[in-house]
Order: sequence, then C-alpha cells, then structure tokens
Amino acid sequence: MISATPGRRKTLVANWKLNGHAEGVEAWLEAMAPIALEGKLDLVLMPPALWMERAGKWLARHPGAITLGAQNVAACEEGAYTGEISASMLARAGARYALIGHSERRRLFGETDEIVSRKLACCLAAGLTPVLCIGETEGERRAGETDRVLERQLAILDEGGGFSPGASLWIAYEPVWSIGTGQAATPELVEAVLSRVRSHWAGLNATIHEEPRLLYGGSVSPANAASLVALEAVDGLLVGGASVEPESCADLCRSVIRALA
Ligand code: PGA
Repeated sequence: MISATPGRRKTLVANWKLNGHAEGVEAWLEAMAPIALEGKLDLVLMPPALWMERAGKWLARHPGAITLGAQNVAACEEGAYTGEISASMLARAGARYALIGHSERRRLFGETDEIVSRKLACCLAAGLTPVLCIGETEGERRAGETDRVLERQLAILDEGGGFSPGASLWIAYEPVWSIGTGQAATPELVEAVLSRVRSHWAGLNATIHEEPRLLYGGSVSPANAASLVALEAVDGLLVGGASVEPESCADLCRSVIRALA
C-alpha cells in the first residue's frame, strides 16, 4: 500500500481548458471560495491565461481561498517566440503551478517529451510548481504498453531538470482514454500506476521541498470523485469538464469533502 503524505490536505485542480467566459471568473471564485475557506480541500483554478490576472485581483481581496495555475507554459524564458507566455510571466500574474505535458498539448500541439522537459526546467527556474501530466492512449493500453509509456514520460525527471531543495513537483496520471470520455480509470488502476510513479521518484534521489503530490485526472465527476479521492495514493484530482460550471464544481467538492470526512 502506498499513501499520500499523512496530514496533507487533498487538492482539487479545476482545469477550464478553452472554456468559460471572463465574467465567469469572479462568479466561479465567489461560489468556490467559501468551500475552500472551510479548510478541508485545497482548490487550484487553472483558467485560460488571459484571465489569470483577473482571478489574481479577486484573490488578492480574499487571501488564502484558492490558488492559481496555468494550463500551459512556454518552453523558453524569453525571445522571439510569438504567442508564448513564459513561466516567470505566469508567476508574476499570480500562478503558482503550471500543467506540462497535458495529453491535449502532446496530441494536438506536438508537445514532445523533450519540450516537456524544457518546460519543466522553465517552471522550476521561475519558482512555479510543474504539474507533469502522464498517461497512455487507448491503443497503448490495449497493446500492453502502459508501463513503457509512463516510464518514458517520467524519464524527463531523471536528468534532475533543475530540482533544488526548495522546488516542488506534482504529477498527474491522466489516461488519455479517460479524458472527456465519461470513462474514469478504476481505483485499482489509479493505485497501481501511482505506486509505480512513487517508486520511480524514489529511485531518482532528487531532493525537493516535499514528496511530489500525485493526482488523478480523467472524467472525474460528482458521481465518481469520492471513490477516487479516498484512495490513499491520491493527493488530489485534476478535473476538466466538471470543474467549469460553479454548481457542478461545488457538487464535486462537496462529494470529495464528504468522502474525506
Ligand atoms: P476531464 O479532463 O475531467 O474533462 O476528463 C481532465 C483533464 O484533461 O485535465
């Protein structure tokens, strides 16, 4: 049995992807902040980058409620990279975390492990916590290649990537076949994969501020969140579709809080 660090509050990360609208930022924060302030669940909002500062301004007036993360980050710190946003720009806008290697970025925008590795280094250099997303496709799962794929995706951690004792890292297992499909991974699979991820990390001898937080993502909903978050191995959930509307996200948080009580 592997376990999340005792005493650590679990986390729910709301990844809006390319959804929502500007005014919805404050509405969402207003609905979710009271839940976060109960202190039973940490909440991270990942809005489209354009609204990061907007969310940051609201949160400056309601400190401690919710933290912010970015859905993506440039693989370079500065220069002639049209359309990119650097890790330090995101940090200055209020982000504390950034997703790297999300399967939609890998699949639709050509993000290779090499690019993910550079993004990892940029995040660490800027003091952002990278949230490394890993996961196999349906085809890879059927071909029995899940372990090999996950090991390859985790291998970017092996070079050290700029880890220092002050750094932190989160890793999210998001099987590609589960994202947006309504078909979440089983608790058994999530436990098994996160156990392998912990062993991989333990074998690296990297020193950071605390053990990496391990998340699960993929079709998390108010109906299944409780059974997933209650797993010892799970430090939190990365939620896409069910996190955008405040009512649905609040339902989800409530079911998580009940499961953890
Ligand atoms: P989903 O997305 O919850 O809509 O499946 C999760 C994610 O891609 O982070």
